[in-house]
Amino acid sequence: MALLSIENVCVSYDKVEAVHNVSLSIEAGQIVTVIGPNGAGKTTLMMAIIGLLKSTGRMEYLGQDLSRLEVESRVGQGLCLVPEKRELFHDMSVYDNLILGSYSRQDRSQVPQDLDGVFDRFPRLKERRSQMAGTLSGGERQMLALGRALMSRPKLLMLDEPSLGLAPLIVREIFRTIASLRETGVSILLVEQNARAALETADYGYVIETGEIVQSGPANTLIHDEKLIAAYLGGH
Ligand SMILES: Nc1ncnc2c1ncn2[C@@H]1O[C@H](COP(=O)(O)OP(=O)(O)OP(=O)(O)O)[C@@H](O)[C@H]1O
Ligand SMILES: [Mg+2]
Repeated sequence: MALLSIENVCVSYDKVEAVHNVSLSIEAGQIVTVIGPNGAGKTTLMMAIIGLLKSTGRMEYLGQDLSRLEVESRVGQGLCLVPEKRELFHDMSVYDNLILGSYSRQDRSQVPQDLDGVFDRFPRLKERRSQMAGTLSGGERQMLALGRALMSRPKLLMLDEPSLGLAPLIVREIFRTIASLRETGVSILLVEQNARAALETADYGYVIETGEIVQSGPANTLIHDEKLIAAYLGGH
């Protein structure tokens, strides 16, 4: 059974449809990527899955109908969104931001252990645990946003353009981290304009254009697709 499966999902802003009849599914432990250009509907799709935007169609998560659940319940059941803007509490320390990430959890006794896990994964955050989040560099902010999401022990982690605006070296580090999260058993929905890096990291990929899925397949097949190479993969 898929962890998340959505079918014929449509999302509109007022009367303008931004996501049209999108169907996709994510198996437990899989990294699935949705790639596509600016304005294709990637962020809109994730906002609908977490429940911040209304949608039509069917969404099933852990075998239950998601449309019945409010945002809080979706988060409580392990759905977690790291938004494009990596919103953090700027006037709070790295440590406090991480602890806040664990608030949706019931198993409080596991929090210190998971905090150690995040610091092991991101030594830079450990060094800067007392630093205010607002003074971190772009790459460190993305690490903190990821670390904070992990503190909620997500089952499905949705990452909206984690590489946006970051230098190539940091982008590689972020994608290495995403790939390494596989071992923890978390499933990941990765939305990216950086199509090559996303396909190198993912198991399966979907291509979205003007709100519709136009292509899908195993990531290692898509990465060799000539049409996609010409359109999104920089002609390499
Ligand atoms: N709040 C809004 N009100 C009206 N239209 C919106 C709103 N947010 C997004 N849109 C429109 O919906 C479409 C999809 O936008 P969305 O942000 O989901 O695209 P995206 O694929 O995430 O793009 P990007 O790669 O630039 O982040 C666009 O045409 C956009 O202008
Ligand atoms: Mg977006």
